[in-house]
Amino acid sequence: MTRAVTESSREKTAERLLRSSAGKFYDPEIDIDWDAPLVEGKLYLREERSSLYGTELWERLTPEQRIELGKHEIASIATNGIWFEVLLMRMLLKQVYDADPTTRFAQYALTEIADECRHSTMFARFSERVGCPHYGPVVWRKRLGKLLNVIAYGPAMYGSILVAEEILDRLQREQMNDPEIQPLVRMVNRIHVLEEARHVTFAREEVVRGMRRLRGPEKVYQQWVLAVVSHEITRSLVNPAVYASVGIRPRDGYVAAMNNPHWQETIRFYGERIMGFLGEAGLVGGPGMRWWRRSFLLGDR
Ligand SMILES: [Fe+2]
Ligand SMILES: [Fe+2]
Repeated sequence: MTRAVTESSREKTAERLLRSSAGKFYDPEIDIDWDAPLVEGKLYLREERSSLYGTELWERLTPEQRIELGKHEIASIATNGIWFEVLLMRMLLKQVYDADPTTRFAQYALTEIADECRHSTMFARFSERVGCPHYGPVVWRKRLGKLLNVIAYGPAMYGSILVAEEILDRLQREQMNDPEIQPLVRMVNRIHVLEEARHVTFAREEVVRGMRRLRGPEKVYQQWVLAVVSHEITRSLVNPAVYASVGIRPRDGYVAAMNNPHWQETIRFYGERIMGFLGEAGLVGGPGMRWWRRSFLLGDR
């Protein structure tokens, strides 16, 4: 009986999200004017959100270099967004593989994959348009990412999806209505925020459903996987290679950023909403705590 109720609520949510997806979606190929000129002097990333903001290295940068660094940092975040989305698509495809395709659940999972395909193309075009190289994650982390499909399932899988989606969501919401930000960045952010709201609803419900079924050691395993993956998500956002764009040795920039209280606070701010949810769901704890602390997502907790 309980399982039947769970399945029917899952189907209802998927049905609603399918309808919403059909009513409102963007095609970045058409909806973004990729040929529009970039606006001189506008920011790509709010200055206080730069990983070096407030450090000695930051003080030495000229106003132009600060804009340039922000551009490379946002391109790094966008191309890491592609990495997250490709991993997420693989996990969702695994769900579809095992599911009955006539269910609304499987059909919504396919729709979400279609959304992510468009997003990843949009992020790639964005990075190319602003003249940045493909940053993405550092090589070893990219290799390690291949394991995710094997080790993550259930609530930790949906929890990982949520951490990546909600961190980007917070950053993008802050930028999408800020007149100081490049119009192209704002448009990319607006499209992503609008479509991700559905994904967040879908994943949050799956976490709650999955947690009800977890017992003993399996819960501990799920807590650990989610903490490790979340740590890698926060660490990957800014590829150290971005610092070379303003003449800073990548290693020096990376060390300064990781020890920068402003950057740590920025990560905590990005994760604030999702950490509250994951904590209530019972996914933050156990052997994962060491990783959570190092991720900067916990703040003073
Ligand atoms: Fe996305
Ligand atoms: Fe998404």
